[in-house]
Amino acid sequence: MTTTGSSSLMGNPDDAGRFGRFGGRYVPETLVPACAELEDAFRQAWDDPIFRSEFDELLHRYAGRPSGLTECKNLSSQLGFRVFLKREDLNHTGSHKINNVLGQTLLAKRMGKTRIVAETGAGQHGVATATAAAYFGQECVVYMGEVDIARQALNVYRMRLLGAEVRPALSGSRTLKDAVNEAMRDWVATVESTYYCLGSVMGPHPYPWMVREFHRVIGTEALSQCQEILDGDVPDVVVACVGGGSNAAGIFSGFVDTRAELVGVEPAGGAAVGRLVPGVVHGSMSFLMQDEFGQVQEAQSVSAGLDYPGVGPEHAHLAEIGRARYEPVTDTEVLNAFELLSRTEGIIPALEPAHGLAWMVKAKDELAGKTVLLNLSGRGDKDVAQVQAIRDGDPSALETVDFSSEANNTNGAQ
Ligand SMILES: Cc1ncc(COP(=O)(O)O)c(C=O)c1O
Repeated sequence: MTTTGSSSLMGNPDDAGRFGRFGGRYVPETLVPACAELEDAFRQAWDDPIFRSEFDELLHRYAGRPSGLTECKNLSSQLGFRVFLKREDLNHTGSHKINNVLGQTLLAKRMGKTRIVAETGAGQHGVATATAAAYFGQECVVYMGEVDIARQALNVYRMRLLGAEVRPALSGSRTLKDAVNEAMRDWVATVESTYYCLGSVMGPHPYPWMVREFHRVIGTEALSQCQEILDGDVPDVVVACVGGGSNAAGIFSGFVDTRAELVGVEPAGGAAVGRLVPGVVHGSMSFLMQDEFGQVQEAQSVSAGLDYPGVGPEHAHLAEIGRARYEPVTDTEVLNAFELLSRTEGIIPALEPAHGLAWMVKAKDELAGKTVLLNLSGRGDKDVAQVQAIRDGDPSALETVDFSSEANNTNGAQ
């Protein structure tokens, strides 16, 4: 059983849902009661041993937890430090996203909500939500930026196969930020029957806290797996990629009270924490990419799942107090890391966690002789066609992949 550990550095937020000065609840009047209802329902459920055991059971029997811990001997000898992977790629649906989604859809069922809306970037959260909605017999609508629909065609098909309706977000950069806007608009209009299953540790309170708690299992498992292999010790460094920050929050929560250094890796074109500029987006205060007029800037990344200009508020807090550091990597470094792990270890990573590995390769002098744990948040099947197109010299594949006729059929929200 996981615990919230309120004396932990990653314990509960304050009553206003803040981590230090970040977080809170910046939403229209119409959503205040919905957020309060959700907070109440989550507090009660999380204190209820029946809910906790149903959740644990789902993670075990349906998602396949515990996920493994793999030592990468070939990569370690190539890089000059010891590398371990937490294998979230082996979960049902191929990423860490299923942990949070099973928690939230179970909560939706408990709250009597029959319709689920979600946003998705890479499609992994959308696939996980469509999967859980199918399992629980809930109606499911997934909003996805038009650009992401094109570059993640396989996941779009998966969601439809699972019975979800995929609706394109056509505004702004037509990526994750715009999909969140659409999902929130839907939620405001249908709040009586609809549950908004948010896919990362962002949004208004209680989402950043609740989503982190549903992912805490990653850190809890990884801590005991590492201690078993390292004779009671912990890795020197724990690394995770950061889009909204949910897989990082999950793994960091297991190590935040230990001596391990925590490193979040962002795409250079979406480095919200790296810029240290506070602002409000999607219901909470955090670090955020914005121009001199305070307008949200568009993130740019080869990886749809990290193409987000903000970051969860708890990461802004961890950065501000100096407990975690956040480092940028370029698309080129990521593509090289994607191929490196495939060739050295026979594991094709998703482009998102390839960011973590890209930083490790770059920091190899600093890491020499150390033990490093990387959260392998997802597998690369969804990205293979995109990387192939990039390597074949299709320049559009770096930003807007548009090579699939199936993917272009975005209007029919089936
Ligand atoms: C495999 C994978 N890792 C990481 C992320 C980024 O999300 P987060 O920062 O919330 O973990 C995504 C998002 O879609 C993803 O699919």
